[in-house]
Amino acid sequence: MPALPEDGDYVTIAQLVQPPTVPASGDPSREKVKRVDPFMFGQRYLEEGTDIFKYNAWDHVDTDDDYKAYAELQYSKQRDNPASDFHKNLYNSNPAKFWDRFYKNHNQNFFKDRKWLQQEFPILAEVTKKDAGPKVVLEVGAGAGNTAFPLVKNNENEEFIVHACDYSKNAVKVMRESEDYNEKYVRADVWDVTAQGEDSLPPGLGEGSVDVIILIFIISALAPNQWDAALQNVYRLLKPGGYVLFRDYGRGDLAQVRFKKERFLDENFYCRGDGTRVYFFDDEELRNIWGRWTPEKGLQLDDPAKQDNEEKQDGDEKEPIQSTEIPENGFEVINLAKDQRLLVNRQKKLKMYRCWLQARFRKRVAGDQLEDNTPEKLAKDIETTL
Ligand SMILES: C[S@@+](CC[C@H](N)C(=O)[O-])C[C@H]1O[C@@H](n2cnc3c(N)ncnc32)[C@H](O)[C@@H]1O
Repeated sequence: MPALPEDGDYVTIAQLVQPPTVPASGDPSREKVKRVDPFMFGQRYLEEGTDIFKYNAWDHVDTDDDYKAYAELQYSKQRDNPASDFHKNLYNSNPAKFWDRFYKNHNQNFFKDRKWLQQEFPILAEVTKKDAGPKVVLEVGAGAGNTAFPLVKNNENEEFIVHACDYSKNAVKVMRESEDYNEKYVRADVWDVTAQGEDSLPPGLGEGSVDVIILIFIISALAPNQWDAALQNVYRLLKPGGYVLFRDYGRGDLAQVRFKKERFLDENFYCRGDGTRVYFFDDEELRNIWGRWTPEKGLQLDDPAKQDNEEKQDGDEKEPIQSTEIPENGFEVINLAKDQRLLVNRQKKLKMYRCWLQARFRKRVAGDQLEDNTPEKLAKDIETTL
């Protein structure tokens, strides 16, 4: 297979790529199966010999080797042509200003309603059930309300409320002016998740008062040196055992590969044409950010090589945690998965690799054992029971 042209623009590349296929199963119903379980991300596999343009999207498609090489080349070009110091300072010093402009221009018309939420995060179906009792959800970086409003539309719980916070005043204005805005169930406020001092908690919420915190495409909008402050606030707000529901950009997503000159702010961190910032996470990095963060020491990312080594040595042989040795990390990583899809533009014959990360974290309850609810663990449990 010919390598992709080094200087090819993204359209050319998207026409030329040859995505990997899985062996043909001979089962025609397989390609029609839609997502059924959380974190399974659909079951439409691209099988050998299938017409790639038959559908708009294929699930679980990793990038091919030529594309990986092309992507690496783009990253090194981006690195060699970073944003100027002036622009770095402009975009990093007052990032809310650029999101304010964004919502002024796009109002509520940019992001799609997130209708898949209850499917992917069943806890959201639970807290909105009729008899679920008092439940408090906080959405951070709520934007125009594309998550909060669909949640409220499906809510049957009289004692449910979602606090939809964003640091952009215009985003909050858009939410408050929506015809779906009803303060009994949704309250929109301006709040910066990285705030410290007296504004470090959102209006109306105290320490340990929130059952579920939703972080959808928000942590990627922070600079890496702001992650620690954000996790600190999330930790303080959650009840012990409370959940974080996370979805964000994964490394290698087409949005990252496409960045041109003068957009690079730092490794995997860019500014878009409209001045908003975006980070692309690696799955192990994300596991370390959340799984190793401690309320006392904060982020534990300083020596990734050493951490990798420790993890390899630990392997699956980890000793069970004794009740006297209370682990100090603040969150358990319950699920963490990569959603890699191939999107197809049938008209232009484009094949585009997308990559998102999705996870559930839980605020640790002192002395609690790690709960492993991953599909792999559940499959293993079923196997051993049978
Ligand atoms: C990519 S948008 C996602 C919006 C929404 N979560 C969605 O998926 O439709 C990122 C949002 O995060 C907000 N945001 C960025 N940094 C923030 C911060 N430090 N505190 C609160 N909101 C922030 C932005 O204003 C923007 O609305």
